[in-house]
Parts: sequence; structure tokens; C-alpha cells
Amino acid sequence: MPRVVDSILAMPTLTPPSSTAPLVWNRRHLLGLQGLSAAELNLILDRAAEFKRLHAAGHTKLDHLKGVTVGNLFFEPSTRTKTSFSLAAKRLSADTVDFTASGSSLSKGETFIDTARNIEAMGVSQMVVRHSSSGAPHHLARHLNAGIINAGDGTHEHPTQGLLDIYTIREHRGRIAGLTVALVGDILHSRVARSNIWGLTTLGARVIVCGPATLIPPEIERLGVEVSHNLDDVVPRTDVINLLRIQAERQRSAFFPSIYEYAHFFGMNGDRVRRARKDVLILAPGPINRGVELTPDVADGDRSVILDQVTNGLFIRMAGLALLHEASQT
Ligand code: CP
Repeated sequence: MPRVVDSILAMPTLTPPSSTAPLVWNRRHLLGLQGLSAAELNLILDRAAEFKRLHAAGHTKLDHLKGVTVGNLFFEPSTRTKTSFSLAAKRLSADTVDFTASGSSLSKGETFIDTARNIEAMGVSQMVVRHSSSGAPHHLARHLNAGIINAGDGTHEHPTQGLLDIYTIREHRGRIAGLTVALVGDILHSRVARSNIWGLTTLGARVIVCGPATLIPPEIERLGVEVSHNLDDVVPRTDVINLLRIQAERQRSAFFPSIYEYAHFFGMNGDRVRRARKDVLILAPGPINRGVELTPDVADGDRSVILDQVTNGLFIRMAGLALLHEASQT
């Protein structure tokens, strides 16, 4: 099995923001934020903002996906992503099919690709895919005609989470360029970290990754980020602190002595918030482990925008579904 860092470093370098980037979305799939231009990222963010404005004006049911069937294929558990993709598709008038691995014919030996092909054969033209294996959605994109949206693949990327994080920051700060964003925690196993790094750096933010040395991939600086192992040093010089979950399900060995020690050195608590900038934004992709990555007073405090992230996720997913459908019609 290749090391996580090998797969990161094997990826091509960032595409610099381009003034000639397309203003029309022309990709059939949304598999990651790596390689998307600033113009493409802004196109998704702006479309999400438009859907949010329409929703606030009372347009809760739109017809962008009328006659389209969207499949939600979740081979790993999810609360936020699965629910918001399903709701996003319904808000755009699509029919939806929800598939979960448990209780399916996978237990009888049917393969991943055969499962997806059978669902496609029922007329599903867009598939939202979450899988524990990095690259699983890319595999489907090569073998199916349906448009594929990556809803989180192993330790690789979670593009709509990265986009909703960036959207929430932009909504509160009015910009991304020039901000300093800290990603704190289990960077090694985090697909959310990777999507944030690609998206934020392309849009001109400075990114600091912070965590125990065992949870930071070696040479990650080559992705254009600063590395720190000292949260108390990072906190006062950041505009945004995004607290990533300890991915116990992906950790095959002990990466730190105890959860208490982790919380002591890398958990966000009230004392640390008081030492942060007055307008610091506290993000967490969820699910959160209260008392580990952040204390309840911080999670529920006035600097937290965690539930704003969840709300905005709906509009980001509407934007992704609509743009992919429009690209499939040209
Ligand atoms: N942030 C996120 O992906 O949450 P879920 O696993 O609940 O979808």
C-alpha cells in the first residue's frame, strides 16, 4: 500500500490562477479541488451564493435538475454530506436514489464497479460517491457515463467539504486572498485537509498545518503550506482555525500517547480562543469529538461558524449538481 505522502507528492503541482480560465463550467466530474483554477473555484462559490440568495427570497424549489436522477452511493458512513446532497438534489427537482453499502448485494460478492453500473442502468445520470478507498470515484469516472461527484475518498479529497469551508470563510470575511488559515489535527489522514489546501492556496490564502509530527505528512511544505507543531504559536496569527477530526478509523497505530495529551496540546479551548484575534473564525468539518479537537464552549461559542458550514454545504452541493448537469448538456 503506498504511503499517503507518496500519493500527495506524486500529484502535479498547483495550477496557478489564470486570467484566461473558463467562465463556464465544462467538467463532467467533480473529483477534487486539485487542478481547479481560481476562476473555476469562484464559479462554484458564486453559483452557491446565488442559490443561497434565491432560497432566502423564498425560491426553495428550483427546476434545474427536473427529469434527472441523482444517485447517492455511500460506502462509508455520513450524516452531513449524504443528507445535504440528497436535499440539494431534491431542491433542484431531481429524483434521488440513496444507496448504502450495508444491506446491499455487496455482501453477496457483487463488485464496486458492478454495483455502480447496475445503479446507472436504472437511469441515474449523476452519482455522488463516498468510499474508504482513495481513488474510488475516479475509477467510476473512467468506467461509467454518469457524472461523478467525490463525496470523500479515503485520505485523498473531499472537494465539496473544502468548498463549503472556503465559502463560509468568504461569506464572513468577504475574501480569501491574504487570509491566514490554520488546519489543525490529523493532517495525515484528512481528505478535508487536502481539499482545503488545494482550494485555499489557489485562491491566495496562506495555510498553516498544525499537529503532532506523527500526524503531519513529511515534506507537506511542498504543497505550499507552513508546518507547525505548536498550536499556541499559531493561534494569535491566524484569521481562521479549522479543527480537523482525529480519524481513529484510519489510524492503524498509536500516533500520540493519549487522547488527553492530544487535547492538551492541540485541542481548541476557551483559553486559546481568548489569545486569538478578536474576529477569529472557528471551523470544524464534523463530526466533532467534543473535548478532543475542541471543547464544547468553543464549539458552541460566538466565534464558531460550524453550523454555518453545514447550512452552506447545501448550497455548495446544489451548485456542484447544477454545474455538472449543465456541462453534460453541452
Ligand atoms: N464533514 C463530513 O463529511 O461529515 P459526514 O461524514 O457526516 O458526511
